[in-house]
Amino acid sequence: MIEVSNISKQVTTTEGSLSILQGINLSLASGESLAIVGPSGSGKSTLLGILAGLDLPSEGSVSLNGQNITAMDEEGRAAVRARTVGFVFQSFHLLPGLTALENVALPLELQGDKEALKTAAYYLQRVGLDHRTTHYPRQLSGGEQQRVAVARAFACRPTILFADEPTGNLDTGTGEKINDLLFDLNKEEGTTLVLVTHEHNLAARCGKRLVLAAGLQVDESLLEGPLKSPLKGSVKKKTPSKKAPAKKKAVTKPKAEAKVKPKAKPKAAAKLKPRAKPKAKTQGSKS
Ligand SMILES: Nc1ncnc2c1ncn2[C@@H]1O[C@H](COP(=O)(O)OP(=O)(O)OP(=O)(O)O)[C@@H](O)[C@H]1O
Ligand SMILES: [Mg+2]
Repeated sequence: MIEVSNISKQVTTTEGSLSILQGINLSLASGESLAIVGPSGSGKSTLLGILAGLDLPSEGSVSLNGQNITAMDEEGRAAVRARTVGFVFQSFHLLPGLTALENVALPLELQGDKEALKTAAYYLQRVGLDHRTTHYPRQLSGGEQQRVAVARAFACRPTILFADEPTGNLDTGTGEKINDLLFDLNKEEGTTLVLVTHEHNLAARCGKRLVLAAGLQVDESLLEGPLKSPLKGSVKKKTPSKKAPAKKKAVTKPKAEAKVKPKAKPKAAAKLKPRAKPKAKTQGSKS
């Protein structure tokens, strides 16, 4: 699970202190899905990096599965990331000199997993790429490369998967397939899913949404349009919509997000575990 309490992030620039995030609160139960949405520059990637323990907030705390990662040193955070977190990036981040199979197996091998290749083969099959195992990234389409990246993230059995615009570089049809895959694996593996996205459909598929406007957490109800179109008017514009921002209101307003009860959700079904899957030990390091 993820517990976020009153996170702020300031950075120092040549022009002085810049506030990137302010007063962010969030509670996400295991297996839930969350979309972080908002206009470009609103702080989505910064927040995702803080949630994943890749970056530290200036104030506030983040707990992953009950462990306060903001109170740890970098070594401690790295250990939690290795056990807990997977990451999928917009630009895939595959190693060009390794085949698809080797890319997926690498983080497992780094953990000393002797079944790494078997597990990697299972997850490549799971994303529909069992016929591409010996291909190098340059021999794969963008959608195929992202499927390898998804396989790599899930092969380490993270309890939380973070994805920053995972389909941002893909056409709509290919993106849909990747999204289906993320949600299938989210259900089957019981993985908590946190996505940054500009896509209305994808955000609507998540159980929760966290809307950012200029670094502030905006209540969805302040945005234009019904809940079914949560991003209407907020994402396409580079600045928050007139109805949306109400910055001060947003900060002081109680967050609807925190009140939503976690839905009962399917946990990792034994039948869906990989046959070749080795010991249930670690969730490995992120991609
Ligand atoms: N280290 C930094 N120093 C200065 N400014 C920063 C730093 N990191 C982020 N910013 C600024 O903080 C703001 C939020 O950046 P962030 O990358 O989180 O936005 P985003 O919502 O992910 O945008 P996009 O949708 O374009 O990816 C931006 O204005 C960015 O320029
Ligand atoms: Mg971003």
